[in-house]
Amino acid sequence: DPGDYEAGEHESFMHKELLEQPAAAERMLRGRLDERFGTGHLGGLNLDARELRAIRRVKILGCGSAYYVGQMGASLIEELARIPADAEAASEFRYRNPIVEPDTLYVAVSQSGETIDTLLAVQEVRRKGGRVIGLVNVVGSAIAREVDGGIYLHAGPEVAVASTKALTNMFLGFALLAVQLGRVRDLSIADGRRLIAGLTAIPGQIEEVLATEPDLADIAKRLAEAESLFFVGRVRGFPVAREGAQKFKEISYRHAEAYQTSELKHGPLALISTDVPTVAVVPDDELVERNVAALHEITARGGPLTVVTHRGVDLGDLAGRAHRVDVPKNERELDPILLTIPLQLLAYQAALNLGHDIDKPRNLAKSVTVE
Ligand code: AGP
Repeated sequence: DPGDYEAGEHESFMHKELLEQPAAAERMLRGRLDERFGTGHLGGLNLDARELRAIRRVKILGCGSAYYVGQMGASLIEELARIPADAEAASEFRYRNPIVEPDTLYVAVSQSGETIDTLLAVQEVRRKGGRVIGLVNVVGSAIAREVDGGIYLHAGPEVAVASTKALTNMFLGFALLAVQLGRVRDLSIADGRRLIAGLTAIPGQIEEVLATEPDLADIAKRLAEAESLFFVGRVRGFPVAREGAQKFKEISYRHAEAYQTSELKHGPLALISTDVPTVAVVPDDELVERNVAALHEITARGGPLTVVTHRGVDLGDLAGRAHRVDVPKNERELDPILLTIPLQLLAYQAALNLGHDIDKPRNLAKSVTVE
């Protein structure tokens, strides 16, 4: 019962919710993994294999962090199902007279299910004859009632304004959807099984990352001292950097800007100095060397650097010049979710150091229900 949900011995709901992520992820995946055929079971979509196959494009709509996880979801769908997919801020969508096509699947993503911009975007799609599914946490919420089908996130109540466990479950929902869309197309049974095994490992791996919290306190303390920070990443790492910057600015009130690592040299490098730290997301993928080369441009200018990466990644001679935070390896496509967890912890620890009201940051509401 959400009414009985309390922070208990935790000093904030955010911390409690952060730590609940392994259990919340388990609930999200329970009954939805088909190991035998390497696919997802998402009954609530109300779409059979023929209808799933007929989808030619996917458009994801959400606000704030839900929009950033939507970007992670769009990449997953493109990679695994090879369907063109993108995410858009729901708050912008209806104002640009969007083209709504019958063979596009629209996905509204929202923790509360009450965000007015996302709800109005859903209504605009439906008015124009489009089909919308929801990735929603709160059962029976306005968006959940408005959509044609969907996937509940089963994250449990979320009270802190800075969302954590609901976002993790959104990512898992997109992964399941991507595998299911892939398996009615060209994703092989072997790849499907590989990803289902990867998803099964996620709750335990989140637990491992959460256990590193004490190691992050010192880095967070230093980051909290800066007035302005960069969060950088590229391809799968970029939405992770966007979400990391979002969390940091929400509760630390520091200026945290997300950028593609590849774009640094096209402008923002001018701002790098000993006073402007960077948090870089470097997944274990084909771009490691390029990432390392771009990050040298930061350390060469005395910019303090923290690299969030996978165990075993060779950072070359950046090693002695940057703080390193490791997460366990999983399947490459699922990289974003584990890389996100240390960024939540850094934001949380920084806000704690600064003595802010972590659950109710200034100027923000848990759900934005008026335009
Ligand atoms: C998350 O930390 C933010 N507080 C915010 O960006 C949030 O994700 C956004 O307002 C969307 O909320 P929703 O998921 O309830 O629709």
